[in-house]
Parts: sequence; structure tokens; C-alpha cells
Amino acid sequence: MREDIRIKTGVPGLDEILYGGIPKSNLVVLSGDPGSGKTIMCLQYLYNGATKFNEAGIYISLEESEEELIKIAADFGWDFNKLQKEGKVAIITVELYDFDKLKNTIEDAISKMGAKRLVIDPGVIFRLYFERELDARKRIMGLGKMLKKINCTSIITNEIALDKIDSLFGLEEYVADGVILLYHTCSQNKFIRSIGVLKMRGTKISEKLHPLQITKNGLKALHKQELFEDIK
Ligand SMILES: Nc1ncnc2c1ncn2[C@@H]1O[C@H](COP(=O)(O)OP(=O)(O)OP(=O)(O)O)[C@@H](O)[C@H]1O
Ligand SMILES: [Mg+2]
Repeated sequence: MREDIRIKTGVPGLDEILYGGIPKSNLVVLSGDPGSGKTIMCLQYLYNGATKFNEAGIYISLEESEEELIKIAADFGWDFNKLQKEGKVAIITVELYDFDKLKNTIEDAISKMGAKRLVIDPGVIFRLYFERELDARKRIMGLGKMLKKINCTSIITNEIALDKIDSLFGLEEYVADGVILLYHTCSQNKFIRSIGVLKMRGTKISEKLHPLQITKNGLKALHKQELFEDIK
């Protein structure tokens, strides 16, 4: 039987929703609408890994520059410059047009650092690089399969429209072990943030949507509350 080793996200409330954390080596799609906190969660996942759990991590950025990511992290008090110097985190910006190179870059970086955590953000950008949907689908499935073979717990982000679940070329249904959703829901005159786990192979999960806050320390899931229960 597979050992039940958990990779703790360190995001307050989320490990409780996951009954202990993400099962080791799982490939997770983090889906959310624009501004829902995907990038912040990815940074938080790597920061906590490096500082609290002694697990090195790699951020493959397909959109934001290294400087932009370091600045976002610094807003929450996470010093990525320091972590990079200590070899605990690497931010790698890659152009997607050379897809084989991307795969090699990931494999090399993981073995060089002994990384245990990997983030690819935003995964949805694959759509821009391949003219045919089928090509994008084949590539991302291939990448997903590779990520599952390596000894890393990976998060790949996907952008969805408000209140709509679009899959990342079917990755969620076929290859991914887990799907975490970040939502904005419209309620009267405001948006309410929430988080939910749609699936996670290898663990029990809370099947509810929980309120989510972005605080000065990063994302925080209110795992004891259900969305809308306190909203009159
Ligand atoms: N210091 C902060 N305190 C509270 N909220 C913040 C802070 N910094 C950013 N935010 C909120 O987080 C949102 C951006 O989060 P993030 O960049 O992680 O979202 P995203 O899902 O990656 O968005 P995109 O789809 O643009 O990539 C902002 O729109 C803002 O509402
Ligand atoms: Mg983002």
C-alpha cells in the first residue's frame, strides 16, 4: 500500500480541509478566477516548504518575471531573495515555445536542488502557445504524466471564469490527482472569496466551500466555517 505521507501546504485551514495536507507526489491543479489568489498560494506553498518543512521548491513562471514574483512575496513578508541564495527556492522563467526544453529544465532543476515542491503558474498559458487545442492537450497531458513520475508534489494553476469550472485541457479529469478551487462569489453588493477541494486522491477531504481571506500573512482558509453560513 502507498505510504500516507503528507506535504503540508502551511496555508492556515487548508491542511485541515485536506485532513493533513496534500498526499506526497500528487499533481494538483489549482483553479481560480482572476485575482482569486492562485499566485499568492503558490508562493506561500513554496515559502512554507522551505522555511517550515525543510523542503526545497521550484517556481516555474510562465507569465510574471522573477522580480515581480519576489515583490509579491515580499508584500507578505516572504523573503524569496534569501531563499534563492540559500538554494531552498528557485524561480525559473521559461518560454513555452520550446516545450521539450521546458520538460528538461524542470527535470534538471528538480534533481539539482533535490526539490520536493514544484509550481507551474499560470498553466493556462499553454492555450496561447499551441494553435490547435489538441496539441495543447497532448502537451499538457505529457507534462502531467512526467510530473507524476518525479518525486515532487506539484501544483499547476488554471484560470477559470467567475462561477464556472473550465478544465485545463482535461488534465483535471484524467491525469491530475487533485483539484483545488479558489472562487469569488457575488453576494449582493460584494465578492466573497472561498476555497474548496473538488478532488484529492489519497485523502479524505472536506466537501464544503469555505470562506477564504487574504491577510498580511497570505491566504487563510476558515475551515471551521462554511461559505454563506454567517451571511444574512
Ligand atoms: N497584501 C495584500 N493583502 C490583501 N490582499 C491582497 C494583497 N495583495 C494582493 N491581494 C489580493 O490578491 C489578489 C491577487 O492575488 P493573485 O495574484 O494571487 O491572484 P491570481 O489568482 O494569481 O490572479 P491572476 O488570475 O491575475 O493570475 C489581488 O487582486 C488582491 O485582491
Ligand atoms: Mg496569478
